[in-house]
Amino acid sequence: MTTLYEVHGPVAVITLNNPPVNGLGQATRLSITDNLQKANADAAVKAIVITGAGKAFSGGADIKEFGSPKALAEPNLLSVIRTIENSAKPVVAAIHSVCMGGGLELALGCHYRIAAPGCSVALPEVKLGLVPGAGGTQRLPRALGVEAALNMIVSGEPVKSELLAQIPGQKLFDKMAASPESLAQEALAFAQSISDTRPLPLVRNLPCKHRNGDAYFQFTRNMVKGMSKGFPAPLKCIEAVEAATKRKFEEGMAFERELFINLIWSPEGRALRHIFMAERAASKIPDVPSDTPKRDIKAIAVIGAGTMGGGIAMNFLNAGIPVKMLEMKQEALDRGTATIRKNYEAQVKKGKLKQEKYDERMALLSTTLSYDDLKDADMVIEAVFEEMGVKEKVFKELDRVMKPGAILASNTSTLDVNQIAAFTKRPQDVVGMHFFSPANVMKLLEVIRGEKTAKDVLATVMAIGKKIKKTAVVSGVCDGFIGNRMIEQYGRQGGFLLDEGCTPEQVDKAIEKFGFAMGPFRMGDLAGNDIGWAIRKRRYTEKPDMKYSKTADLLCEKGRFGQKTGAGWYDYVAGKRDAIPNAEVVKMIEDHRKSLGITPRKVSDEEIVQRLVYSLVNEAAHILEEGIASKASDIDMVYLMGYGFPIYRGGPMNYADEVGLFNVVQAMNRFAQNPLDDAQFWKPAPLLAKLAAESRTFN
Ligand code: NAI
Repeated sequence: MTTLYEVHGPVAVITLNNPPVNGLGQATRLSITDNLQKANADAAVKAIVITGAGKAFSGGADIKEFGSPKALAEPNLLSVIRTIENSAKPVVAAIHSVCMGGGLELALGCHYRIAAPGCSVALPEVKLGLVPGAGGTQRLPRALGVEAALNMIVSGEPVKSELLAQIPGQKLFDKMAASPESLAQEALAFAQSISDTRPLPLVRNLPCKHRNGDAYFQFTRNMVKGMSKGFPAPLKCIEAVEAATKRKFEEGMAFERELFINLIWSPEGRALRHIFMAERAASKIPDVPSDTPKRDIKAIAVIGAGTMGGGIAMNFLNAGIPVKMLEMKQEALDRGTATIRKNYEAQVKKGKLKQEKYDERMALLSTTLSYDDLKDADMVIEAVFEEMGVKEKVFKELDRVMKPGAILASNTSTLDVNQIAAFTKRPQDVVGMHFFSPANVMKLLEVIRGEKTAKDVLATVMAIGKKIKKTAVVSGVCDGFIGNRMIEQYGRQGGFLLDEGCTPEQVDKAIEKFGFAMGPFRMGDLAGNDIGWAIRKRRYTEKPDMKYSKTADLLCEKGRFGQKTGAGWYDYVAGKRDAIPNAEVVKMIEDHRKSLGITPRKVSDEEIVQRLVYSLVNEAAHILEEGIASKASDIDMVYLMGYGFPIYRGGPMNYADEVGLFNVVQAMNRFAQNPLDDAQFWKPAPLLAKLAAESRTFN
């Protein structure tokens, strides 16, 4: 049963009962209206309480119904709320724990609301690219006041019930319960106390005005515009709330509906909902059931206190898990510890971290030079030099000292995890944990599943990823895993574009306008151009047939490695990250072009974007086909969380689906005709060709 119905004396209690968060799916909605009817028909009932079972009043829409016709099927939420408003007997919402989205809209439709302290109250629809669609934008400003309501609607952020109750003149809560435990009893008493009061109060009848409305809405518009680049929903939220102050209630409701429907069909809204689902899907591994037992992880060891080791350690310290770092020399340990300290101190200075939290975290950190000190750790993450010989030594030592059942993880970005596992007598306990730099900041964690990695090891690592607030995505073993394998193709296209007539600046600007955080050349300068150089040198012998532009090598031969040397594709001023175009680099590219006998042509921004993005898409299709990624949405998460792909485009696969795979393939066929490009690469991956031919999509 999605709701429970009980009668306590003169009060009927309807309890939402749709775990985990009492989502307002169709069955629940129907059950609410049925029970309202029942209560109204029962002469013994004088008042009705609506509340939620378990750990929520209601979290809002049922995500299982997302995008399905059921979400809007009758009785839709608007109809349920109308039924409540029209109830002849008073309806009291008894709110606790979580009251969000449609849950809050439902409560706002009730005649009275009583809330427990500690309840998270929000209208988070904006985070899914929407405005609230069941009266939230019209009723919340009436109940809470325009400014507080607009703030909640535009940000989507939760606010605690006790804070809301303190807002002068608020009509959101008629009463605060003393505690979550006493809510049920207090709600019954409250319902009895108002059971004869008439007329029944309705939020829709409250006035909704702002003293300086025009100026206030103009201010918020200016502010939100700058912060919501690419996303239409936040500005629409302002329009909707403004309508609440200027139009009659029913007209405001119709306007809200119109905005809601338009946003549902916008590509940005679709992208955000895709990401919402993709994030949840990423933690599900097809052949690892969600009830797979997990290993207990209470203490971590990190090998190597360099750039990555320090950042990795911080993730665990932040989560309250003790970390022991091992290095070869005391100086390296001291340097690593000092960097961690410096990072935390910067946060304390900015007021982002409390001093006592900082002390707590540093107290969880210890260091050692001896492997024998690691025997108590439940998991070890190796982040030493990227050389197989070094990894071999380390993993043999770990195999010797680590306790049975400990998880042995490597942060390698290019090496074969199966080979690393084979250095030990326990390959089932070995897994890749590929963090991104800076490891304490970047959200992405690629979890590399070796041939022999045990299922419970994977399940444990995914859970740990969540605990340290990463988006963990599983990748099979291949060169570059999901993310770097794709970026190599993107980088190669960047090189061809230079050869054909572009400047680094033109390429970067075009893709940044598309929404990428950074174009390929600014990114190269940030990561260090020498890294790509080293990979290419390997490729020249491994894959002699693979075509590359030579410009990046010429750049590196000049020692222009990027920000760290103050010069790369661009020039940099010490202490600043602004990329300043350099005439010498442009001349170097022109000279190289001449030496190849190429007459430069004007490449359109559209072509730049298509070549860069579709190169990712085609490689991704291979990755999907080979089973390196188990679903297209995982690839989207990798690019959104680790590579600055624009959020409002939902990732490369979602974007390709939006463009239409037929169109993507047509463009690839066109690029294959370009003699300066790589015709072999642009042959659409078989999976892509098949989906395009069948008018299907990746997701
Ligand atoms: P790094 O050079 O900054 O740090 C490596 C540290 O390991 C040094 O402090 C070194 O003293 C220590 N070390 C070397 N051999 C050791 C041994 N046998 N025992 C104990 N400590 C030893 O290198 P970085 O950048 O931190 O990279 C480490 C690993 O992380 C590599 O496998 C790299 O491919 C991977 N990685 C690097 C990323 C990056 O952006 N820098 C991103 C993702 C992965």
